[in-house]
Amino acid sequence: KSIDDLGDLKGKRVIIRCDLNVPLDGTRITDDGRIRASVPSLSKLTAAGAKVIVLAHLGRPKGKPNPEFSLAPVAQRLGELLGAPVAFATDTTGESATETVTDLADGQVALLENVRFDPREESKDESERAELAAEYAKLGDVFVSDGFGVVHRKQASVYDLAKLLPHAAGELVAAETEVLKRLTDDPQRPFVVVLGGSKVSDKLAVIDNLLDSADALLIGGGMVFTFLAAEGKGVGKSLLEADQIDTCGSYLERAKQQGTEILLPTDIVVGPEFSADAPPTVVSADAIPDDQLGMDIGPESTKAFAERIVSAKTVFWNGPMGVAEFEAYAAGTKGVAKALTEVDGLSVVGGGDSAAAVRELGFADDDFGHISTGGGASLEYLEGKQLPGLEVLED
Ligand code: 3PG
Repeated sequence: KSIDDLGDLKGKRVIIRCDLNVPLDGTRITDDGRIRASVPSLSKLTAAGAKVIVLAHLGRPKGKPNPEFSLAPVAQRLGELLGAPVAFATDTTGESATETVTDLADGQVALLENVRFDPREESKDESERAELAAEYAKLGDVFVSDGFGVVHRKQASVYDLAKLLPHAAGELVAAETEVLKRLTDDPQRPFVVVLGGSKVSDKLAVIDNLLDSADALLIGGGMVFTFLAAEGKGVGKSLLEADQIDTCGSYLERAKQQGTEILLPTDIVVGPEFSADAPPTVVSADAIPDDQLGMDIGPESTKAFAERIVSAKTVFWNGPMGVAEFEAYAAGTKGVAKALTEVDGLSVVGGGDSAAAVRELGFADDDFGHISTGGGASLEYLEGKQLPGLEVLED
């Protein structure tokens, strides 16, 4: 169901779950992509005359109120983007929330404080989550699920609340799932997937699944050194997950057998230590010195990756190719991002971190076919998993 299916919303209290989990430097928002992505649903609801109550999380405060994780700066930015002040409640189901909601006029928006300040939000105990969801439900008449970045979490404001109120998927959740469906249901070929980031253990399930559906997997970032080690190469002081070497080796073998291409870098930019000032040297991936660590894919590999990406019809990319926040080690990530902008087909940047990285490197959102707001959520979708926050909407 979409927002349109909820009927006349004038004067109705609509609770909407958004993913407003943005990176902050103190109270300064360094990338407001997720807030901007929430605007279409919110504008639609305010235009319909609803009283809009936004539930969201910020970071991982572990069930305790903590001013460092307050959503107050987000309320401010959301108001700027919506062109009308957003009321802010200093709690989520207490006196402040109740009063703020009571005071809402038709077409007004209120943001309630971080849902993760209450330990019941993320509790594994269903009855605790249900109790909190019932408290949320008292504040509204209908529920809209629009926090795509969090739909893979079975949490009170994502999952349990949808069971208590008439509900619909918001514009962002609808748009994100439509694009990801194009990657999983018969993608236009060649379908190329670029994976990076530091931990290979976070990506095993997605690699496993994509080995069967993608034409090529291009692997960079810190996770690549476990693959290079599986090929018997020395990786010096680079990141290595020794307990995953065998698994990576089995993926290389399986790819060979079934004719899926796994492209690993042939050259690496290394430095003597993990620091922005570490002097970079390009070495062959076969000859990483013992006293150096790899912090980016090299120029030859960047060129090879870019060629493969540009000739694809469908591309999904998650995770930087190197330490993109260090200028001397950002070229691989930049090269891959630029290649994605040149794809004649569908290019998708998956992940809050990857999205922030491409914006930080100076790319605009519309340079790409789609920038997903969900990191873990988009990966789990591509793993073929059932996502609780989507599943509950189908019931
Ligand atoms: C994200 O940043 O991927 C989402 O906001 C979910 O956050 P979480 O991983 O802390 O649940």
